[in-house]
Amino acid sequence: MSIQSTIKRKTAPDIRARKNGEPIVMLTSYHAHTAALVDRHCDVILVGDSLGNVMHGLETTVPVTLDMMILQGRAVMRGSQHALVVVDMPFGSYEASKEQAFHSAVRILKETHCGAVKLEGGARMAETVAFLSERGIPVMGHIGLTPQSINTLGSFRAQGREENSWEPIENDANAISEAGAFSVVIEAVAEPLARKITETIAIPTIGIGASAACDGQVLVLEDMLGLSPRTPKFVRRYGDLGPMIEAAIEGYAKDVRSRAFPGPEHVYGMKAKG
Ligand code: KIV
Repeated sequence: MSIQSTIKRKTAPDIRARKNGEPIVMLTSYHAHTAALVDRHCDVILVGDSLGNVMHGLETTVPVTLDMMILQGRAVMRGSQHALVVVDMPFGSYEASKEQAFHSAVRILKETHCGAVKLEGGARMAETVAFLSERGIPVMGHIGLTPQSINTLGSFRAQGREENSWEPIENDANAISEAGAFSVVIEAVAEPLARKITETIAIPTIGIGASAACDGQVLVLEDMLGLSPRTPKFVRRYGDLGPMIEAAIEGYAKDVRSRAFPGPEHVYGMKAKG
């Protein structure tokens, strides 16, 4: 008899079916404990390569490796039960060829058991998206501002501000959708363009700094909790946990230094001798 989990996780087709339906709620997580919290409220958990910035203090996501993504992907899978877990393909793990992308994506799926991968790039990645999708690997696209390309972009600037710059981004969205991606993240794109793309393409759009016109939204968890030293302007903070954590640490340090730290009697009901 086979042992099957009775808990059903959301799948890439479930998310694909949400086009023009209930908005898709997505947040990042890189750890088992935050994944358990996010899992209660979100449809999708993204193990984003933003872990390079958030967990490791890197300036960009360029140095993030496949091993780093797999390690945190496994932690998030252990912490969650319901949400679709999507793991980012890091810079250098998929761009060289569709075969390279396939091998990297297979490692991610086999070693983490997550349900899908995400990769950056539009029309230039369409052939790869089709190659993976046709071979059993659900792909989420990522267009607009693509942070892995920071060294050619020069800065993390919003995209498509002027109408005459919309065409390449629209082409990217169409190419990714037609290639078989199940959804696409649109980052830092002006509202009229995000709306136009959302109304045009067949798959759900998930916005980050791309307005409420998208089919869903994603934020970096630490940004919306007020835990990141620098957050993009478009991020709405839903909490301010930095000062709360610091106050707790300060209280602990004060207790230890003043010898007010509770001893074992606190736990075992013993009185200290003497
Ligand atoms: O790495 C990440 O967290 C992302 C989101 C910003 C969409 O790609």
